[in-house]
Amino acid sequence: MSAGPLGSTFDPHSPEAVAICTLFGRTLGVCAVIGAVVAGLVVTCILRFRASKRPDVPVQTHGNRSLEIAWTLVPLAIVVGLFVLTAGAMAASDPPGDRAPDIVVVGHQWWWEARYASGAVTANEIHVPVGKDLLVRVESTDVIHDFWVPQLGRKVDAVPGHPYSISMQADAPGTYRGACAEYCGSEHAWMRILVIAQPQAEFDAWDRHQRQPAALPALPSAEATRGEVDFRGKTCVSCHAIGGERPPAQVAPDLTHLAQRTTLGAGVLANDPEKLALWLHDPQGVKPGSHMPDLHLSEPEVNDLTAYLETLR
Ligand code: CUA
Repeated sequence: MSAGPLGSTFDPHSPEAVAICTLFGRTLGVCAVIGAVVAGLVVTCILRFRASKRPDVPVQTHGNRSLEIAWTLVPLAIVVGLFVLTAGAMAASDPPGDRAPDIVVVGHQWWWEARYASGAVTANEIHVPVGKDLLVRVESTDVIHDFWVPQLGRKVDAVPGHPYSISMQADAPGTYRGACAEYCGSEHAWMRILVIAQPQAEFDAWDRHQRQPAALPALPSAEATRGEVDFRGKTCVSCHAIGGERPPAQVAPDLTHLAQRTTLGAGVLANDPEKLALWLHDPQGVKPGSHMPDLHLSEPEVNDLTAYLETLR
């Protein structure tokens, strides 16, 4: 299987994730001090007032004003302090509400669609320029999903008819692994997402390339030519977009540059010709319950389709 473990929230790579991780650390520190004080007092009492040492009932104290003021004010100060820290982290991780999104991420059972303001469309793999604060709007077309890339920020629900926004800024080039974090049906676990952060120039080249149809080879192989005919003749085109050709409803990943992606089936397989053939041959065996139907393709049809899809770079 191709999708590795998610990155750790304790290894944050964006200002939002740093704010959240710092808040966690500080809250943990405050709670550790409280825990140590309480445990210390309990142990002191246990040792000091042992029955063997002091058989008598200890002196009972009623109404100690300074003590009561102290145990009211100290917890109040702690709660106010935690509130201030939390409000600061919220301010640092809340998205700006006053501009159009750079990327719209749409949750589907069981894959992610990403639509860029530039017009680029991709699936299960988001490219972003390093160091740029992007506004990402998260939506869903079917059930509630949850978009989560631990190293880049908080979880955000993808609710049908009720979009939410998050800020996303990667502070170093790299690949950040994410997943759907809300149970959304049988293939919830295979709803992974990759965020690939690149230097601005590399990202711009990627973005430009995504907006063009794949540059098909001047002399496509006989297999690839037959595969393209099959792609149009079978029902593939009713769900998948390629280039500017859109299906009636965007119910499956855009395949314009499929061969360039890292994974297939939202993380279930690494993307190489062998795995692609396996996926075409038996999608329900690879990802049971997914909306990719088993078309009972023959061996030559699988080979032809694989050859064609591999040209989509
Ligand atoms: Cu989508 Cu869980």
